[in-house]
Order: sequence, then C-alpha cells, then structure tokens
Amino acid sequence: MELKEFKARRKDLMQMVGEDSIVIIPAAPERKRNRDVYHRYRQDSDFFYLTGFVEPEAVLVLVPGREHGEVLMFCREKDPLKETWDGRRVGLEAICDLFAIDDSFPISDIDDILPGIIEGRDKLYCTMGIDSAFDKKVMGWINHIRENSRKGVHPPHEIVSLENILHEMRLYKSAFEIKQMKRAAKLSAQAHILAMQVCKPGMMEYELDAEIVHHFMKNGATYAYPSIVGGGGNGCILHYIENNTPLKDGDLVLIDAGAEYDHYAGDISRTFPVNGKFSAEQKAVYEIVLEAQLAAINAAQPNNHWNQPHEAVLQIITQGLIDLGLLEGTVNDQIEQSGYQQFFMHRTGHWLGMDVHDVGDYKVNGEWRMLEKGMALTIEPGIYIAPSKGVDKRWWNIGIRIEDDVVITSKGNEVITKDAPKTVADIEDAMS
Ligand code: GLY
Ligand code: MN
Ligand code: MN
Repeated sequence: MELKEFKARRKDLMQMVGEDSIVIIPAAPERKRNRDVYHRYRQDSDFFYLTGFVEPEAVLVLVPGREHGEVLMFCREKDPLKETWDGRRVGLEAICDLFAIDDSFPISDIDDILPGIIEGRDKLYCTMGIDSAFDKKVMGWINHIRENSRKGVHPPHEIVSLENILHEMRLYKSAFEIKQMKRAAKLSAQAHILAMQVCKPGMMEYELDAEIVHHFMKNGATYAYPSIVGGGGNGCILHYIENNTPLKDGDLVLIDAGAEYDHYAGDISRTFPVNGKFSAEQKAVYEIVLEAQLAAINAAQPNNHWNQPHEAVLQIITQGLIDLGLLEGTVNDQIEQSGYQQFFMHRTGHWLGMDVHDVGDYKVNGEWRMLEKGMALTIEPGIYIAPSKGVDKRWWNIGIRIEDDVVITSKGNEVITKDAPKTVADIEDAMS
C-alpha cells in the first residue's frame, strides 16, 4: 500500500476545503444478497481513495487545522468473538499506525462524538444522495448541534457536495494508480485471449464467462462488472449478462469483461467468430468498427477535447454503414439526424479508474473538457445489427464492439489493453 500517497491525497483535499471546513466520508455499507448472505464486500471508491482501508462500518473525518489531530477514523473495535465469526478487524490502535490516522474512535460512539467535532465548522463536505441511511445520519448530527444552539454552538452554515473536489482529484491518475490499472488491463487482456483460445461451437456462453472469472480470481483479482458474453443476436443486446445460450457455428460472440485489481478496473470488449473464422459479412462490419476505434484512439490526445474521439467514430461508422448499404444519403445528414443510432446507440467511451464508469466531469463550463496527462478512458465503438425489416438478412445478428483502455500521456496516449488481439488476422491466429 502506498501510505504516502493516501496521506498526500488527504492533505491536498484538506488544503482545498480550508480550515473552516470538515469532511465526512463513510465506508460502503454491507449489502444483503438474500437472507443471511451478503454480497462480497467492496469498499466505496472515494473512501478507499483517501484511506486504503477496506473494512465496512467506518467513517473518515478530516478536520483541517484541528490541534488534536486532523485525520480521524471511526471504525470497528477489536472483538475476538466477532472476529471468530466474521473475520479480522484492524481495530482502533493499529489503524493509526497502519493507515497514518491521527486519532481513532469506536464507530459505535460516532453519534456522541462527531457532533462535537462538527460544531464551529462553517462548511460540511460530504457526498450526498448515494447512501440515504448515511445522509440521514448527517442530518441527525446537525440537528443535534442545532438543539444545543443556546449553549453558543452552531452547526455548519453550508453542506457542500464533496464530489466536485474529490472527483476532480480522482480524474487525474498518479503513477501508482496507472500501475494498478495496467495490472487490471493485463489480466483482462489475458482473459480475453483465453476465451478466444477455448471457444468452440456448441459451448455455452457461461463457459467463456467462467474461463474469464477463473483467470481473474486465480490472479488475486475479481471482475470489475458482470461479464457480457453474447453469441449471435445476443451481441446486439448492449447489457446482455444472462450468458446462458449455446454458441453457434457461424455466429460472432461479443465479450465485454474486465478485471478489478486492487480496486482498479479494466474494461475490454472483443468480438470474434465462434468457429475461429470471420465470414465475409462479419469481416466487412468488423473492419469498419476497427477503423473507427483506431481513429478514436488517435484522437485521444492531450489538447484534444473529450468528444473528438466520438466525432472521429461517427464519421467512419456512418460512412461505413452507407458503404454497406445499411444507411442511405450523406454522412453529414445521417450524423445530423442521428440515423447511425439505429446501429450505434451508445457513446464512444467513459472515464475509467476505480469505478468502471469512473468519476469526473465530461464538460467544463458547458464545453467538452480537454484531455490531459493522467486521465484514463475507454474507446469502445460498436455496430449492432439486430434483425429488422429493411435490413438485408445477411447482416442480421452481427453485433460488434471493440473496446480498449487508454491513458493520456504528455505526448499522446498509451493503450494499456493492447495485449488483447483485435485485428482480424490476429484474432484468427489466436484462435487457430
Ligand atoms: N463494461 C461496461 C462498459 O463498457 O461501459
Ligand atoms: Mn466501457
Ligand atoms: Mn466494457
């Protein structure tokens, strides 16, 4: 763990909010799956970004300039009996050393202690509208202070959304974060290669999913999101995750799968023929998507803005669809009238980081934001041709997306998922 980096993030954040403020960030709540079973715990990304601490039932409080400690943590106490049942806890003492916390308190005492720390601060920064139980708690602490106003104490005058500041920080990845993302990207690329290698007509979609998850877990990672493994027409359903259909000879299979490694996500899509050889029609559509994807990667440069990769994609995909006879008229008209959306209905990418759809604004003051060193994004154009009247049958059920993860560098970019084959020749080679 890069303790120095977590400390530096907290320091930067405290500097930005100023000494009249307090920042409160809760750990993710545990979530029930059914009856006594819980989902595997995943720490909240904001909380992890500032602490590196992965236990539930914790609250980080930053109190810039506070004499008796600026970095406070409310967390679970050591409890041998509970730890026997539910696993080890760091506890109040060790957390100060291991995570560079100035002072720690039992989470069970938060309602008694925290109002006294909040009072007198003018602004309270927290993320709002994500965890309603926590939002309620914040209001409870504020009301508690208000009830004592005759003693001369006052609650914060402003409750400020933390997202603007914190998510702007998270948008720029450090060298350490990029290292973690490269690990996630590498595992993701390897999993896609394995899926290409084992794929055979007659297999179930979930067998490829299993191959992928097996590779992630064998390497100490997990999946960043449920894999999409869609054969044939299922590849035209953007969020298809049932993965329970046999893979047919002659069909394509679209896989969108990425590893999460130490809280950082990979996000790759590849599309390949179930039997290892592209048909003429599949190849024709594939080459359009690939050309669009390469042009978009080329447009993901510092001093270009966020939308330039998407604009490059629209030109090539629309022209390609016209050339295939799937759209009529001119490229400009089809783009203006959104005609291409019949076959390409999503945008070209999103920020990538701890969350697969990572935080950060796409526009600044109403204008597309400029790309800068340290930003990480996906480039993922696609063409999806579901059966429909007016479309020649030979194109039906071709669904293709090609997705890579790109980090903006000072001079251009780095495609961190480039190990996953994506030309027709390289895919057919990997599958042979
Ligand atoms: N895997 C989610 C996405 O590509 O946006
Ligand atoms: Mn994506
Ligand atoms: Mn994806």
